[in-house]
Amino acid sequence: MEAVEVNSNNHLTWDQFENATTDQKVDFFKRDGKIFDVLISQQFNRDLLEELIRIADAIRKIAKRKKGMDWLQSLMSHKRAMLYFVQPSTRTFLSFLNACHILGIRSSEVRDPSTSSEVKGETPEDTIRTFSSYVDMIIMRYPKEGFAEKASFVLNQTDRPIPIINAGSGKDQHPTQALLDIYTLHRSFDDMGGIEGKSIAMVGDLLRGRTVRSLSYLLTNYPKVKIYYVSPPQLRMGNDIKNFLKSKSTPFFEVDSIEEILPIVDAVYMTRIQDEWDKNGESKDTNYDRYSLLEKHMNVMKKTAIIMHPLPRRNEIDVKVDSDPRAMYWRQERNGMWIRAALLIKIFGYEEVVMTYSD
Ligand code: NCD
Repeated sequence: MEAVEVNSNNHLTWDQFENATTDQKVDFFKRDGKIFDVLISQQFNRDLLEELIRIADAIRKIAKRKKGMDWLQSLMSHKRAMLYFVQPSTRTFLSFLNACHILGIRSSEVRDPSTSSEVKGETPEDTIRTFSSYVDMIIMRYPKEGFAEKASFVLNQTDRPIPIINAGSGKDQHPTQALLDIYTLHRSFDDMGGIEGKSIAMVGDLLRGRTVRSLSYLLTNYPKVKIYYVSPPQLRMGNDIKNFLKSKSTPFFEVDSIEEILPIVDAVYMTRIQDEWDKNGESKDTNYDRYSLLEKHMNVMKKTAIIMHPLPRRNEIDVKVDSDPRAMYWRQERNGMWIRAALLIKIFGYEEVVMTYSD
């Protein structure tokens, strides 16, 4: 493909945009060299991850006091966000909504496409363009892979190219979940040398789970991390991710039972079976017991290891595990609100103001 001018995709056709390399896309998703749209995990390098972590820590501290919380709520009271979530969501929706509340951003929402003009035959592209008439940012969860990118492309052709955040795109990516996962790993290992060099197991439906895909991309930013993929043979991690890991020299291993890796890993990231993507109920026959964490497993795990889960869970983590101090998933979901607030701060350019706040 011929060289394209960085940061100006509004002269491209959709075909050219879609076929651009990941590096080119990462440039398209910036404005003035700064992150603008948040669509794929490959947009985040180590510096940006560390900056977001510092901002999230600062917001958490400021929000502890009423004076600080009032100050945070004044920061972006002139901004409005659209939460367009047409796939089921509890945590991602609520944590974005509450991140908006913390920063004073006013929000509108569409969660059920049957209540929007899409049922009158409006194209999804026109729906997105309509949202952009009213708000300053769109946070969207959508069942079709790549549609958030399409939405960004469409808005770039208009006079209101507002930022778009991907809050889950089909089976493909969930970059802000990966951010909160990194934030959780960072907080857990802060006094143990950080994320570098840690062994992390991802367990379950790796073929159709978007969280494990997005997290795998982010982990390549940390030298000497080892990834263990534990899944039924028919639900293994996709080759695109495995090739990416190879290109970044991040070692990974595929195993098919949780028992083999529990004694050696620093974090075990559990996921549920994603059977909403089944074509003919094929997941019904999958024996998920080998990919479930039970009370008996607690004895074989390292004392310092942590247990993560993007949630919702079914029974792949026994509720008895909840009281183990290594269970991090409830804290993990709360971390989502802080890191998402940090991301909004960064996108709208308030990071200096937050980092220099003092009361
Ligand atoms: C995940 C998702 O939607 O991909 N949930 C979440 O955002 N916390 C995981 C899942 O649904 O299994």
